Amino acid sequence: MILVLNGPNLNMLGRREPSVYGSATLDDLEAQCGAWGAEVGVGVICHQSNFEGQLIDWLHRAPDEGTSGVVINPGGLTHTSVALRDAVASIELPTVEVHLSNVYAREAFRHHSYLSAVCVGTVTGLGFEGYGAAIRFLARDLRDDVG
Ligand code: DQA
Repeated sequence: MILVLNGPNLNMLGRREPSVYGSATLDDLEAQCGAWGAEVGVGVICHQSNFEGQLIDWLHRAPDEGTSGVVINPGGLTHTSVALRDAVASIELPTVEVHLSNVYAREAFRHHSYLSAVCVGTVTGLGFEGYGAAIRFLARDLRDDVG
């Protein structure tokens, strides 16, 4: 099982700065993630919250709920949250950080991520496709673990 977490303001996809984030919605994204998981034979569970503590709770529970890998778009918490970073570090599940936009082509405050160092990798600027890349990577990783 792969857990896909979206952080603050990602519930506003489709209405939020469409020139940056596109016109598709969070529902569209979550449906697409499920389809990508099905393509590679892995179940996908998606959650979104605007609350840091809720995201941390989902991360803490993940290892006991059969999760083998995590895809996380922390939204603005990327650039501010030591607590979310510590939660990712605490669970020892392979975690991929995803950003819809290319954060390096935007404001300087978006160039630093507290999470990148505790993630296996980061995909930034590929829109929804970044989640697909992360899911495929984690699925391959899981198969490698097995065989
Ligand atoms: C984002 C980039 C962040 O800088 C921003 O705060 C977001 C979305 C992205 O997906 O491009 O909320 O994580």
